[in-house]
Amino acid sequence: MTQIRAAEAGDVGALAEIQVAAGAAFRTVGLGWIADNPVPTDEQYLGYVRDGRAFVLADGAVPVGFVLVDLVDGAAHVEQLSVAPSHARRGLGARLIDHVDGWAAARRLPALTLCTFRDVPWNAPYYARLGFVEIGTPGPGLAALLRAEAAFGLDPATRVAMRRPVRPA
Ligand SMILES: CC(C)(COP(=O)(O)OP(=O)(O)OC[C@H]1O[C@@H](n2cnc3c(N)ncnc32)[C@H](O)[C@@H]1OP(=O)(O)O)[C@@H](O)C(=O)NCCC(=O)NCCS
Repeated sequence: MTQIRAAEAGDVGALAEIQVAAGAAFRTVGLGWIADNPVPTDEQYLGYVRDGRAFVLADGAVPVGFVLVDLVDGAAHVEQLSVAPSHARRGLGARLIDHVDGWAAARRLPALTLCTFRDVPWNAPYYARLGFVEIGTPGPGLAALLRAEAAFGLDPATRVAMRRPVRPA
């Protein structure tokens, strides 16, 4: 049985493994360099754990997916969402997004946001099916994130910022 819980310090190794395994899918769409990109350091993952902004989806005791959340422009920003290929396409990513929705609602945040690839099937088209819409004019925090991505080498034309209102309780 799968359940979502707050991530713990002992999960950090599993988070890195899941992110590497999930990221391998980018090789199939000509984005191998994204797959090869280093995942966050243990200390970076731990920052989210300590702040209560990392959630793990566990199958029994085994983490198989996770989400990291930032606060950007007053919204819950999905910084990273990864589901292990062994557990992909079972709706677990959508469940993690809905968990963030509940987290945001409890903090009276108005929306979820994220930055993603416009044309990768499991990125913007997937999020659009989950109810996210493109943000026409990103706020200052999101605009800064998009600028940082571009400086890192991501072609801005391939990227999109999206938003989904937090659902009423
Ligand atoms: C995005 C991700 C978290 C989705 O997790 P998931 O548990 O598989 O999500 P769901 O089961 O809720 O939905 C998966 C949907 O993504 C799309 N998708 C996933 N893999 C796909 C693939 N290889 N080709 C085409 N579409 C794909 C499909 O629309 C799929 O729905 P379907 O199975 O009903 O067709 C997972 O694919 C992942 O970890 N990807 C790599 C990391 C990543 O891109 N993270 C998001 C960065 S913004």
